[in-house]
Amino acid sequence: MSKLIDRFGRTHDYLRISVTDQCNLRCVYCMPEEGLEFLPNDKMMTAEEIVKIVRVGAKLGIRKIRITGGEPLVRGDIVDIVAGIAAVEGIEDIAMTTNGILLAKKAAALRQAGLTRVNISLDTLDASKFRMIARRGELAKVQEGIEAAAEAGFSPIKLNCVLLKGMNDAEIESFLRLSYERPLHVRFIEYMPIGHDDEGWRAMYLPLDRVREAAAGLPWAAEPIPDVKGNGPSEDWRFVGGKGSFGLIHPISDQFCAKCNRLRLTADGQLKPCLYWVDELNLRPWVDDEEALARIFFRALDIKPENHEMAARLAQEAQSHVPTARRMSQIGG
Ligand code: GTP
Ligand code: 5AD
Ligand code: SF4
Repeated sequence: MSKLIDRFGRTHDYLRISVTDQCNLRCVYCMPEEGLEFLPNDKMMTAEEIVKIVRVGAKLGIRKIRITGGEPLVRGDIVDIVAGIAAVEGIEDIAMTTNGILLAKKAAALRQAGLTRVNISLDTLDASKFRMIARRGELAKVQEGIEAAAEAGFSPIKLNCVLLKGMNDAEIESFLRLSYERPLHVRFIEYMPIGHDDEGWRAMYLPLDRVREAAAGLPWAAEPIPDVKGNGPSEDWRFVGGKGSFGLIHPISDQFCAKCNRLRLTADGQLKPCLYWVDELNLRPWVDDEEALARIFFRALDIKPENHEMAARLAQEAQSHVPTARRMSQIGG
């Protein structure tokens, strides 16, 4: 039973761990083309420090871990990190969110080390659009990564597609068809204003109603499904008779904070109670003091907000305060 219950009665059993703020892509909605000022190596948690924090989290009721970045596979010791977490008593699920570029090389070793699931970011099925959106890398590498993940035995394999007006909204139907034809779980995600200038976000945000409309226009009946293995906010569907399924993640048009079960750990060792708020607590000085770490976990729950205000931000003409100082790549989504 998790001891991590916050002021609003939400039980926390899911920790998202960002292992690096670096990335080998530069997706338009995430990072400027020139990159950001990345953490120097000595500011980044070591594999040992990450495992020590997970050990305390597990004693308090964390059961599910998701490894994120930046791009987690650019970290040279990523397989050791997975193996270290897998050895922690109480951890039942270790998943990773990756852009897939390096996955073909590492899928088998990750699986062997104890990784249970992968979610792969894929915003377009078109190679030239990929160059526009990701600005580096190649679609073919991601596709090889998806195949390698399947060969390594990962299941389900989820694809994360952030819906972007004027960039990939013409591909909704293709992604839905893919979920019918292949045993893949395609998730459509609303673009969130995390660490962005308002104008850029407003220009590209689309609510997921577009996906519901496109699904209704296809020849197959869609039915809700409760059982795609996962710990996140996705609302899951499948087309009757299809090989795969699809999910809707709609933080803005239909907020899911009441069901929030997660905390976040940044690559420099800050515990973040909520994706959207500025508050964070430094765990790193205390990695060798289990009691102090536990106290900080409880403190994070005390300061966790009830919900975010992204929809309010959309409705407002201008935003008067910046709710999070970090960019998405510095939090891990
Ligand atoms: P599963 O365990 O497979 O369900 O994974 P997940 O959906 O929790 O993780 P993933 O990293 O694939 O995230 C998918 C999308 O959901 C990303 O855009 C995340 O930023 C977003 N997301 C995940 N958790 C939260 C959350 O607590 N709040 C908000 N607003 N968005 C979230
Ligand atoms: N809004 C929604 N999703 C985002 N992601 C990255 N930035 C954003 C954003 N601003 C997604 C990535 C990845 C996951 C961790 O979060 O595409 O799949
Ligand atoms: Fe949880 Fe904050 Fe995400 Fe809402 S925005 S679901 S409270 S992490």
